[in-house]
Amino acid sequence: MPVPKAELHLHIEGTLEPELAFALAARNGVTLPYADTEALREAYRFEDLQSFLDVYYALMAVLRTAGDFTDLADAYLERAAAQGVRHAEIFFDPQAHTARGVPFGTVVEGLTAALDRAEERYGVSTRLIMCFLRDQSAESAMATLEEAKPYLDRITGIGLDSAEAGHPPSKFRAVYEEAARLGLRRVAHAGEEGPAAYVAEALDVLGVERVDHGLRCMEDPELVARLARERVPLTLCPLSNVRLRVVDTLADHPLPAMMEAGLLVTVNSDDPAYFGGYAGDNYDGVRDALGLTAEQLRQLARNSFEASFLEDDEPRRAR
Ligand code: HPA
Ligand code: ZN
Repeated sequence: MPVPKAELHLHIEGTLEPELAFALAARNGVTLPYADTEALREAYRFEDLQSFLDVYYALMAVLRTAGDFTDLADAYLERAAAQGVRHAEIFFDPQAHTARGVPFGTVVEGLTAALDRAEERYGVSTRLIMCFLRDQSAESAMATLEEAKPYLDRITGIGLDSAEAGHPPSKFRAVYEEAARLGLRRVAHAGEEGPAAYVAEALDVLGVERVDHGLRCMEDPELVARLARERVPLTLCPLSNVRLRVVDTLADHPLPAMMEAGLLVTVNSDDPAYFGGYAGDNYDGVRDALGLTAEQLRQLARNSFEASFLEDDEPRRAR
């Protein structure tokens, strides 16, 4: 039995498996620039974050209707549940869809159709977090927040993703201020390819409650001490870090040092269709490569519920 856990760093578009991509392409009359699923999998040899993002955005062309987003989310939830995920806080990238002519409402309605029945079907509670693409303008992010306003009852929070280097958190100060005013929870990717200073900026300028990745905080001991003291959760994605060459191998991952430093770290899958595994595969990977004990794995699972946006009066299936 896999340990019950919450998944807090998961891009729904990154759960698009090659088989579903080709099925949706056929359904929608979209031609993919790959002959078959084998050829597509061959393209999953990434040099860095950008080389991944190029394939990730290209494949989204197959997602067109609300039903496509429902099928995508259903497939993820079923796989996640099988690996012990009992609660999932799910990112989506609205700008990557609205830019292709897919309306914001189509995306949200499609995803929520699957999420609304996830407790009953899969035993998984869910939250939805909309991410802004940090390599696009702050004005585009603000316009997207405006488009989200009719759907805020279904959206728990905002995040920040895509190409990090050269796009500091401070670029999105006004958007995060407006989101706070609307009562949205705030997270951001920081310290994946970008420097430790971006982690501090996400906290100080954007007021985030949780940092996605954040592993480059380890380059700044004072920042590490602060993150530990303030119990700021970090959502680590070990298999992603290997595939995007943030670390050389799983055995080199700083997770044990981060736990040792008293950081509130969690283990997540990021884009499981592209990086070789879902949440449980990430737990298994760090157990095998880093020799984590059963108690350390249970600690990571406890951390995941503590770091989640579940309210105290909601059932936490793992406790
Ligand atoms: N980093 C930044 N942006 C992303 C990622 C990631 O790992 N996955 C999907 N969008
Ligand atoms: Zn991510």
